[in-house]
Amino acid sequence: MGFYREESIEEVRDRIDIVDLVSAYVTLKKTGKNYVGLCPFHSEKTPSFTVNREKGIYHCFGCQAGGDAFSFLMEHEHLDFPEALEELARRAGVQLEEDESGPFRGKPKDHSKELAINLEAARYFYKVMGSETGSAAVAYLLGRNVEAQTRRAFKLGYAPDSWDALLKHFESQDVVPTDVEKAGLAIRHEEKGTYYSRFRGRLMFPIENVRGEIIGFGGRVIGTGEPKYLNSPESALFQKKDQLYGLSLGLAEIRRTSRVLLMEGYMDVIMSHQHGFTSAVASLGTALTAEQARLISRYAREVVIVYDNDSAGIKAAKKAVQAFGDRDVLVRVADLRDAKDPDEFINSHGRDAFEEVISAALPAYEYLIRMGKKQHDMRNIEEKVSLISELLPFLADMNNRVKQAEYVRMTARELDVSADSIVFELKKHEENRRVKLKREEDTDRKHRLQKQQSKTSAAETVIPGERQLAGICLREPSIYREIQSEIEGLVCRDPLVRQVFDRMRALTASEKPFTFHDVVAGLQDEEIRKQVIPLCLAEHSPADPGTARDWIVSLRRAELRHRIDELMEKIEFLEKEGKMDELLEIGKRLRTLQSELNRI
Ligand code: GTP
Ligand code: MN
Repeated sequence: MGFYREESIEEVRDRIDIVDLVSAYVTLKKTGKNYVGLCPFHSEKTPSFTVNREKGIYHCFGCQAGGDAFSFLMEHEHLDFPEALEELARRAGVQLEEDESGPFRGKPKDHSKELAINLEAARYFYKVMGSETGSAAVAYLLGRNVEAQTRRAFKLGYAPDSWDALLKHFESQDVVPTDVEKAGLAIRHEEKGTYYSRFRGRLMFPIENVRGEIIGFGGRVIGTGEPKYLNSPESALFQKKDQLYGLSLGLAEIRRTSRVLLMEGYMDVIMSHQHGFTSAVASLGTALTAEQARLISRYAREVVIVYDNDSAGIKAAKKAVQAFGDRDVLVRVADLRDAKDPDEFINSHGRDAFEEVISAALPAYEYLIRMGKKQHDMRNIEEKVSLISELLPFLADMNNRVKQAEYVRMTARELDVSADSIVFELKKHEENRRVKLKREEDTDRKHRLQKQQSKTSAAETVIPGERQLAGICLREPSIYREIQSEIEGLVCRDPLVRQVFDRMRALTASEKPFTFHDVVAGLQDEEIRKQVIPLCLAEHSPADPGTARDWIVSLRRAELRHRIDELMEKIEFLEKEGKMDELLEIGKRLRTLQSELNRI
């Protein structure tokens, strides 16, 4: 695994209609050759997000987000390139061909080294668990009713209570300590410069991403101790906010039932899976993030929150409901009655009772009312008012009017207040939110403007003519080939344009036909890439060889004038100094430049 053939990538790009793709997320309106809508990457009220079907690209003139179908999906769904490619290939019905041996021109899958190290570490921990050294860990798991089969499914292991055992193991595999450190499994001793294991004497829970790749570990003390859990450090590969424990194992069931059981702890997920509730996932000890909510909504239409049955758990459940916002997911919250968490519930009441708890879970809003009524004294008006303000944001998030109206009625009934007064407060709340959003948008815009201004005032040179010429060549690479030698005669002062032409020269030399996608893909600097995309969109000047040549002439003239000006300055200086010899020489050069200028 690792690389896809470039032909497959191009086939996907050709078959995907970017307007269709973007339309799933953004309402687009056709204006001329382009489609415009509200940018999904920053909040705005006037549309500056532009999509061009023919070229398969998008660009936001507000926040400078831009790219093609792949980058759109990557940014919007937080995928890496191979993930976006695989998803779009699926939609386009393209069979991706892997490029195992060829000239590795495809895109490499990222982080392969760290993933390989994590996998090897998991194997090692698993092996240690099965050995003499791991007997206490095995006993601990048995004591908690974790069966051997479950242990295997979750690849649980044991990190021996040793500073260097893991590093020695990797040494025998020719993996150097710096790489083990990069994967988060070792720590460098600052003074001694030596390395030691991060996890020692801990039960190891490998954490997999949705594709089943091990991206990090959680390590639990055996029995009691502090900290109870230790996690791999956050890295580009391992970001807790984007992950759900158990998702890779549960995906099939989640897809089948279109439902997720959302829990707090590793052990809750493990025990649930063991009892057949394989759609259980956990949010890795953090409050549910918007990314995790998005991840869930990508695979399921319904989520049942089964958080711990204490005040922290209830608070976290409310936060989780909020994280789903107005996503199209039915959110329900279960009540674990006398048990402290799902693990304990299943162990003491069994599978069927847990099934009942799940089916009896209340729709999130009903749960909020029920909890609110428990926590606030409904005979006290101030308490009632404060509960209603707590509920308003949830009502405001409901984008279905009927649903909202029904819940307003329920709130009125349950709290014994008039529905009209709730509707009135809801309008106020929505207005406040709108004003706040507008204010944020304005400050956002101001910041962007300041950023842009400081950027242009920095040494960066933008030569409009050069950019026009680059734009024409990007839109019609055949024109570049036709006038390449003339372009090479130019002195380009705009660094962005220089990079574009360098890239085109290299692509032309490889004698393979290319499009502007290939040019853009080869630009290293993200900022430059973003500035190049609008050049491909420019529709106001025609992309034909004649126009390109006009620009070349005008640029050559400008360049000659620039050099003539420089020489004039020099002449002035030399006259003052009275350096006749040099004056004669410079004068000759000046006349050559002037006659050249007259010729073109
Ligand atoms: P058990 O106590 O073994 O049943 O574990 P649990 O998975 O039920 O843990 P608990 O309900 O105490 O906590 C829920 C989740 O929060 C855990 O699964 C961890 O992901 C996280 N967590 C708990 N304690 C710690 C800690 O000390 N440090 C870190 N980093 N995370 C923790
Ligand atoms: Mn627990």
